[in-house]
Amino acid sequence: MSEKKQNQSEIEKEAAAKMAVSFVKDNDIVGLGTGSTAKFAIEELAKLVKGGLKIKGVASSVHTEELAISLGIPMQELGKTSHIDISIDGADEFTETLDLIKGGGGALFREKIVASLSNNRIIVTDSSKKVEKLGSFKVPIEVVPIAYQYVVNQLEKLNGIVKLRYKEGKIFITDNHNYIVDVAFGLIDEPQKLAESLNQIDGLLAHGLFVNLTSKVIMAKDGQLYTFSKD
Ligand code: A5P
Repeated sequence: MSEKKQNQSEIEKEAAAKMAVSFVKDNDIVGLGTGSTAKFAIEELAKLVKGGLKIKGVASSVHTEELAISLGIPMQELGKTSHIDISIDGADEFTETLDLIKGGGGALFREKIVASLSNNRIIVTDSSKKVEKLGSFKVPIEVVPIAYQYVVNQLEKLNGIVKLRYKEGKIFITDNHNYIVDVAFGLIDEPQKLAESLNQIDGLLAHGLFVNLTSKVIMAKDGQLYTFSKD
């Protein structure tokens, strides 16, 4: 990506994130996403908290937890949370039908739990994330290490091309002490059907296909904000 495009994408991410934060109300329990777009939302929320907004944050990753605490956002543990009023997170790809691929940062499992607990699930993106069909971005999948080879076999039966994720020369380990595989399925005609097949695989903790887990996508493009929702 050229420097100009990168700056443009940062501007878009910030604009979308700020709009999403405007939906947060006093006393809300707020699901905090992971990634560079969610970071803008967390920073904006922190400013509002300093100004008196009363919320509790629930983090979707250790990194987000640390960031939110460092900025002064009161937090509560995901494992002790039974209800989230609103969550704000990023995505790697989305369609107008509100299907997503998430997990580029490896936080997909906790992100899915946060989204599943949320009443209002807002996704914030720059314009590069909008696609006609999901699948150019490989589907991140979190795998319990002991089941690694079994899960790879099952993914290959679904015609997936599987790549174990590495970071700085070492196998990438998630916050939950598992592996991530990035799987190319080609363009995905039926995300729901693929998600159901993936859900059947023992040892596959979570996959990055988010189907029926989004209330609204807020995307910024060329200085404008666009909202995609089902209603
Ligand atoms: C983290 O695991 C991901 O699901 C992120 O939400 C996604 O990768 C979007 O990240 P950016 O906002 O950094 O593009």
